[in-house]
Amino acid sequence: MRISECREEDVGLLDKHMPSPGADSFHQRRYARQCAGAGTYLVAWRDDLPVGSCEVRWDGCAAPEVQAVHAGCPEVNGLGVWPETLRSQGIGTGLIREAERLATARGCRSIGLGVERNNPRARALYRRLGYRPSTPYLDCWSYADGAGVVHRVADACTYMVKDLA
Ligand SMILES: CC(C)(COP(=O)(O)OP(=O)(O)OC[C@H]1O[C@@H](n2cnc3c(N)ncnc32)[C@H](O)[C@@H]1OP(=O)(O)O)[C@@H](O)C(=O)NCCC(=O)NCCS
Repeated sequence: MRISECREEDVGLLDKHMPSPGADSFHQRRYARQCAGAGTYLVAWRDDLPVGSCEVRWDGCAAPEVQAVHAGCPEVNGLGVWPETLRSQGIGTGLIREAERLATARGCRSIGLGVERNNPRARALYRRLGYRPSTPYLDCWSYADGAGVVHRVADACTYMVKDLA
């Protein structure tokens, strides 16, 4: 497995292998944020196929209740490994470790991530990697479907934080 920052030419391949929930490309949005300097979009590859990704958001978690407590703390956002048959093989851990390495290189003292309250396996993984539960919050996001109808989602999450000493 190798991990690299998303390039413009990777976006089409990501769209093909990991379709976005709505009509807009989730990957294009993340790549655009990277171009604007707001994030780094990390992609895990195996045999030249994308098998996982996450975004390091340098401006931190979007939720105001998290910003109030962890301003300046970058966030690992949208972590996912696919297809499901490739899970539990260390790809997610590799992506998190790379995000932590980049944050340390930038001089960040901590890094965080949000986990849905109904995702105990992911929470167990983050705990094993040294993240501690900190702040409950609502992850509010939206997507437009093919007919242009906007769907608003609010997921109950816990923000978890790790010190990067
Ligand atoms: C959570 C996820 C990113 C972890 O990536 P991964 O490559 O499977 O993680 P690793 O192989 O490094 O570590 C696996 C551990 O993660 C945990 N885990 C969390 N969700 C899991 C899932 N759906 N399947 C398998 N393991 C999962 C388990 O504790 C597992 O430990 P185990 O190998 O002892 O069973 C991945 O499983 C995934 O994409 N899940 C669906 C999307 C999701 O839940 N994203 C997280 C949002 S907060």
